[in-house]
Amino acid sequence: MAIAKANNLVVIEDACQGWLAEINHKKVGTFGLAGCFSFQNSKNLPMGEGGAIVSDDDDFMDKCYSYHNYGYAYGSLVGAVNQGAVMAGTKIRLTEYQAAIGLSQLERLDGETQLRETNATYLKGKLEGIPGLSTYVLTPNVTRAVFHLFPFRFHSEGFKGLSREVFIKALKAEGIPCSSGYIPLNDKLYLKDAFTSKNYKRMYQADELDFDKFVANNQCPITDKLCNEEAIWLSQSMLLGTQSDMDDIANAIYKIHENAEELLNYKG
Ligand SMILES: Cc1ncc(COP(=O)(O)O)c(C=O)c1O
Repeated sequence: MAIAKANNLVVIEDACQGWLAEINHKKVGTFGLAGCFSFQNSKNLPMGEGGAIVSDDDDFMDKCYSYHNYGYAYGSLVGAVNQGAVMAGTKIRLTEYQAAIGLSQLERLDGETQLRETNATYLKGKLEGIPGLSTYVLTPNVTRAVFHLFPFRFHSEGFKGLSREVFIKALKAEGIPCSSGYIPLNDKLYLKDAFTSKNYKRMYQADELDFDKFVANNQCPITDKLCNEEAIWLSQSMLLGTQSDMDDIANAIYKIHENAEELLNYKG
């Protein structure tokens, strides 16, 4: 926020994975001008698709409301609805069916958030002794952690040189769903197509659209290692299980650790 203020920038927070999370007792999504939350299916408050934007700036919220409803007049945006749009807009209105699902999800959110935190803390404790795994670290200013994922880092050298790919296959074979998470986006060829598109050419200067230069200037070796070799994700819904479910996850990982050498030739 200090950087934004010094540079006269507006902050829109992406809090899509952070329902109810707090930094120094302040909810994420409430620091900037606005916070965005996702209702997409994998999220902690799923409603199918869509999302919410929150802000305490009434004029801004009126514009958002208008934007999602054809650009029709709303609140401080003066005009009459039956006289057409007062600004460019879209039609991205929430359906009543989704709202009904969302309202009941909302009632469960606090309890489920608490359960995820309890299970995540327990699971972290169980995994901490395993050489070759690093679990998440919370910074001291996190006063409420919410878990959209239970992410950890896999270090091949702690597993007799086993690859992450085989670790994932073995964990799945033990009945534990998991994935390798995000892929790096900074060198993807779709960017090359985007850079040559009419819209990008309108928005950016020619030297900013040199793909090779962009890739050279945007090397992220730590992220590459994380995405390509280390990250393992367990999804948030797994943290809604029982303590014995968390034991199952930990036991499956212990088993893989104990049998890592034998797994070196595992094809899955
Ligand atoms: C951090 C974050 N931001 C934004 C999004 C996009 O949300 P949506 O799928 O509702 O567009 C996601 C996931 O989908 C996300 O995890």
